[in-house]
Amino acid sequence: MRYEIVTFGCQMNEADSGLMAALLDHAGWEPAGSRDDPDLVVINTCAVREKPEQKVFSLLGHLRRRQEGRPGMVIVVAGCMAQAQGEALVKRAGNVDAVVGTRCFHQIAEVAARVRSGEKCIVLTGLEGDPAAVRCRAALGHGRAPLRALVPIIQGCTSYCTYCVVPYVRGAEISREPGDVLDELRDLVRRGTREVTLLGQNVLAYGRDLPPEPPTTFDLLLSLLDRLEGLWRIRFTTCHPRDVTDALIRQMADLGKVCEHIHLPIQAGTDELLTQMNRGYTTRQYRQLVDRLRAEVPGLAVTTDIMVGFPGETEDDFERSLRLYAGISFDAAFTFAYSPRPGTAAAQRSDQVPPKVRLERLHRLIEAQNRITQERNQAQLGAVVEVLVEGRAERGEGLLAGKTRANKQVVFPGDPSLAGSLVRVRLTEAELWGFRGELAAVAGGSRE
Ligand code: 5AD
Ligand code: SF4
Repeated sequence: MRYEIVTFGCQMNEADSGLMAALLDHAGWEPAGSRDDPDLVVINTCAVREKPEQKVFSLLGHLRRRQEGRPGMVIVVAGCMAQAQGEALVKRAGNVDAVVGTRCFHQIAEVAARVRSGEKCIVLTGLEGDPAAVRCRAALGHGRAPLRALVPIIQGCTSYCTYCVVPYVRGAEISREPGDVLDELRDLVRRGTREVTLLGQNVLAYGRDLPPEPPTTFDLLLSLLDRLEGLWRIRFTTCHPRDVTDALIRQMADLGKVCEHIHLPIQAGTDELLTQMNRGYTTRQYRQLVDRLRAEVPGLAVTTDIMVGFPGETEDDFERSLRLYAGISFDAAFTFAYSPRPGTAAAQRSDQVPPKVRLERLHRLIEAQNRITQERNQAQLGAVVEVLVEGRAERGEGLLAGKTRANKQVVFPGDPSLAGSLVRVRLTEAELWGFRGELAAVAGGSRE
């Protein structure tokens, strides 16, 4: 019995897909090869914008044709869109056998078995928060673990930004116990992981839902994980700017394994828009925060998420925002055109920006940010930086690829046996996507 998992959306979804794959493996399923027709297709979906939802429907259409040649093929839709639409999705699609919401991933193997035995239209979308969904990961380890692992530490969000569907599809925050996170990481490191990215819709809310004694905060978790022998690098994403504390900044400066990178979504560039989005900070507070972070953490890369075309956004708002972003000078930005999401406050507003204008602003924003990214990369030429080698570069004969501590991509000529090692690379050419470089030294750690 073979399965295939198709993943849309963010790193949290990637981690959730990893969990489902591990659970299916445990239950005796095998991953399908690229040429096999699988017996089970799990689509792990995203609901944050409309486009990834449309892609799911076109994938379902494509799968319908494949099912004609293979009638037993089971289709399960999981994740955020499954959570948002539930039974309606089964009805609309026609070829979906089960829907598994964001707090029911741990039931994937059981659902697959039930569908195989003939049950139809299984809908699991309870949000009551069976913590097993986030806490059962630690028990799963076997075989070689990835060099860089994604580890969810908290899921859910109750910030209620007015454009965002996440609080409705991921529910309230549930943090994993620090000991549970540590156990999972120990197990991953034992099996070869050297870098971890701690995940949450807002990792800085970590611990708030746990008992007050002993205190559990994100910065305490960082100091706990920093002591883990065999782990080289710690990353985390995403951080709500409102929740950055002095303690966090201190830990980022002091803890050796915590990388010099913070992803700090700004979303908009005027105080009026930030208020209407319910973001909880002003442009001035955001700027001061970035200044402080950069002053305290040398070499820090600051990346962000920016949305254009939020309801009521005027041309003047947009231009002021562009000036603010240029002043802050982000290392990189994920940029989005606002997409109205059913059930959110902003979707109900009557002053929606026309889609054409949203797209036009998006292109101008991307162009402006590309220039900034290129300039910032250019300014680093000649520097020698630490790179964790992931393996051969996707393109380019004899080239290796890896990332700097600031999360920039670097490719350079080198021997494939360096995969999994820390090396020092001199940056020789700046590109939009990162750097080309040359090996300066083998820095130390090797994975074996
Ligand atoms: N439309 C467009 N982008 C959105 N995001 C969240 N909700 C929406 C929406 N309705 C963006 C935000 C967030 C990122 C993950 O997706 O920028 O940080
Ligand atoms: Fe959505 Fe805001 Fe929560 Fe991020 S912090 S997931 S944008 S509600």
